[in-house]
Amino acid sequence: MNKNKFYVTTPLYYVNSKPHLGTLYTTVLADVSSRWYKLLGKKVFFLTGSDEHGQKIEGKAKELKLAPKEFVDSMVPHFKDVWKRYEISYDRFIRTTDEDHEDGVIALIKKLQDQGDIYKSTYTGLYCVSCETFVSLEKDAEKACPSCKRGLKEISEENYFFRLSVYEGKLLEFYEKNPDFIVPKQRLNEVVSFVKSGLQDFSISRKSVEWGISFPEDPTQTIYVWADALTNYISAIGYGSKDAKKQEGFNFWWPADLQIMGKDILRFHAIYWPAFLMAAELHLPKKLLVHGFILLDDEKMSKSRGNVAEPLELAKEYGEEEIRYYLLRHFSVGQDGHFEIEDLENHIAGDLANNLGNLLSRTIILAVNNKLDEVKPPAAFEPASLVLHSKCEEAFRNYWDDMSHCQYHIALSNLWNFISEVNVYFNNQKPWELAKEGSEFFVETISATCHCLYTIATLLWPVMPKKMERLLKHLGYSIDLSKDNSEELRKNVWNKTFKLTKPEEPLFVRPNDKKIKK
Ligand code: MSP
Repeated sequence: MNKNKFYVTTPLYYVNSKPHLGTLYTTVLADVSSRWYKLLGKKVFFLTGSDEHGQKIEGKAKELKLAPKEFVDSMVPHFKDVWKRYEISYDRFIRTTDEDHEDGVIALIKKLQDQGDIYKSTYTGLYCVSCETFVSLEKDAEKACPSCKRGLKEISEENYFFRLSVYEGKLLEFYEKNPDFIVPKQRLNEVVSFVKSGLQDFSISRKSVEWGISFPEDPTQTIYVWADALTNYISAIGYGSKDAKKQEGFNFWWPADLQIMGKDILRFHAIYWPAFLMAAELHLPKKLLVHGFILLDDEKMSKSRGNVAEPLELAKEYGEEEIRYYLLRHFSVGQDGHFEIEDLENHIAGDLANNLGNLLSRTIILAVNNKLDEVKPPAAFEPASLVLHSKCEEAFRNYWDDMSHCQYHIALSNLWNFISEVNVYFNNQKPWELAKEGSEFFVETISATCHCLYTIATLLWPVMPKKMERLLKHLGYSIDLSKDNSEELRKNVWNKTFKLTKPEEPLFVRPNDKKIKK
């Protein structure tokens, strides 16, 4: 198996409504992880896209008096616009209406048929159109979806079923052997107890839904939207293709290294998806990262509830990279968290403008004003700088460790502790006085601070790529993705020469200052 690649996926978004901060969150997590591995010199494939079939989309198109394809075509640009604005560097935006995806789905279903894992039977029960899920309820429970609480539809249809029950033991064995399969761990425990409670075969086709991929050799049925959508993770990279090059691509990229999703769709990814893959004799993904919900007024943010923060509006008001930072820093990845404007503004003013932006501008302005445009490393560093040097090394190690374990909020919080230490060092050294005295420690202080800023900017590049490119440019450097940047940071040799240029504008603007300027 190829070790130097990283294949990351987001779920495919339903296009019945425009993207919101919740869907942006999933996508930013994937983008940051993909950029992180690019920084480490890996070959990266980042997949995102749209889930376009099924009853929910069919219904919405009908409501708008549009043909389903016309409707989905009109919605996809909204996603692409937001992703572009937020610098989402995906390699493919797959649509479940793409021809090669449909080929992949048919190939998978045929494979499952050949294995004897599909049979015809009748489903009688409840269905949640919003979640596109079959629901089984306790006897006297109210007829509401346990996940989204919306009303349920009663259906009775002859469908094709997948023999999920056969995979119960194999799945449990897999979870046991791969305790790190799901992050955070507590989610794995939930999955294990669900599987232990007994798995039932489930329907993978629909008779009453027209908007979908036709079931192989049975045009009276369409493939169930989840069986269709999950297959994107393999169809996007060549599964089911007759083209030898695409098959090679599939063998190179599969299995996925990281699949990211919200907790509401974990079961599909941790149970149904692995079972399909086992049945198709394919490897299972290496890791699932399951995040919590972004809450507004204590409720999951969603378009239908009307409590959505508009990503493009937010980007216009606060800056897209500031929002990327906030999403990663504020929300502890596995847990639900509240989105609060005040909190966002505090993070921008405190962490970004005061702590980091100011440190950069103070350092560079002081150096350049004292004719130090080019900072050569001193012959030796004094004890105070050596303490900072080892803190820099430790900051890298912690960051590396937390990023590798998808603990983004911890990685950022620790890195900001280090940034505060650099500020303390800078203030204690009083380089403005050293400059006046003509002390040799002036160059040393500027050099040490620039080395720290270089490390910080490189580590933060996955989170705020343009801002960090700008920061590095002020130091005379740029990001080089042709190598593993971690090697240099791990060695932490302070031998760089910095060519400094004064910032014309602050790197980050405090939200209040922006409002005053308006
Ligand atoms: N189409 C399915 C996924 C199929 S993948 C083969 C779907 N789509 S979705 O648009 O409803 O949700 C996509 C992702 O957005 C999910 O991971 C979901 O958890 C996430 N979020 C939707 N609302 C969210 C919040 N309020 N907060 C965080 N994430 C949220 O499910």
